Amino acid sequence: MPRERPRPPPFESAWLERSLNRYLAWGLVFMVLLLAGFIAYRVREPGLRRDATRAQTTSYTAIGTQIFAASCAQCHGKNAAGGGSAPTLNSTQFLKNTTDDQIFALVSGGVSGTEMPAWNLDYGGTLTGEQVRQVITYLRSLEPHAPSVPGWRQSAKATP
Ligand code: HEC
Repeated sequence: MPRERPRPPPFESAWLERSLNRYLAWGLVFMVLLLAGFIAYRVREPGLRRDATRAQTTSYTAIGTQIFAASCAQCHGKNAAGGGSAPTLNSTQFLKNTTDDQIFALVSGGVSGTEMPAWNLDYGGTLTGEQVRQVITYLRSLEPHAPSVPGWRQSAKATP
């Protein structure tokens, strides 16, 4: 008759296994919560960004309107309509064919050899880069209703 071999004690005692299962269960719960959080974030984020962009555009337009009236209108005309000594900026021809970056460069550095001064502080002007962006946002707000002004660049010469 074979002798019974001595059995080693179980590697995991019962209480240890219960504790491990508890940890695993909680891990699963937190993983599900984390996934749900990610999904909620993905769903909400585009709307939040859209709202933030809209709010920024509104406030930039308001500030840009004031900057334009104070600094640009004397040459570019009230509401950028021209009639002064400088080009008409409220013109489909100008707004459609000029990117924001181009306007930023023109306004920041000015047009040397003309009356158009440099505005950006980086070029010795009086406006911060942010303020130049605000003026550009204002000009863009005119774009949907901008009239066709083929002679926009010569507004001074076109107007008696
Ligand atoms: C002292 C008059 C004067 C003031 C003030 C002035 N500008 Fe000008 N601006 C001009 C003149 C003149 C030109 C045309 C330069 C040229 O002959 O190319 C011009 C050109 C421009 C152009 C380039 C148009 C193009 O594509 O040829 C932009 C954009 C512009 N101005 C924006 C502004 C903004 C924005 C402000 C206010 C922050 C401003 N200007 C203030 C006189 C002025």
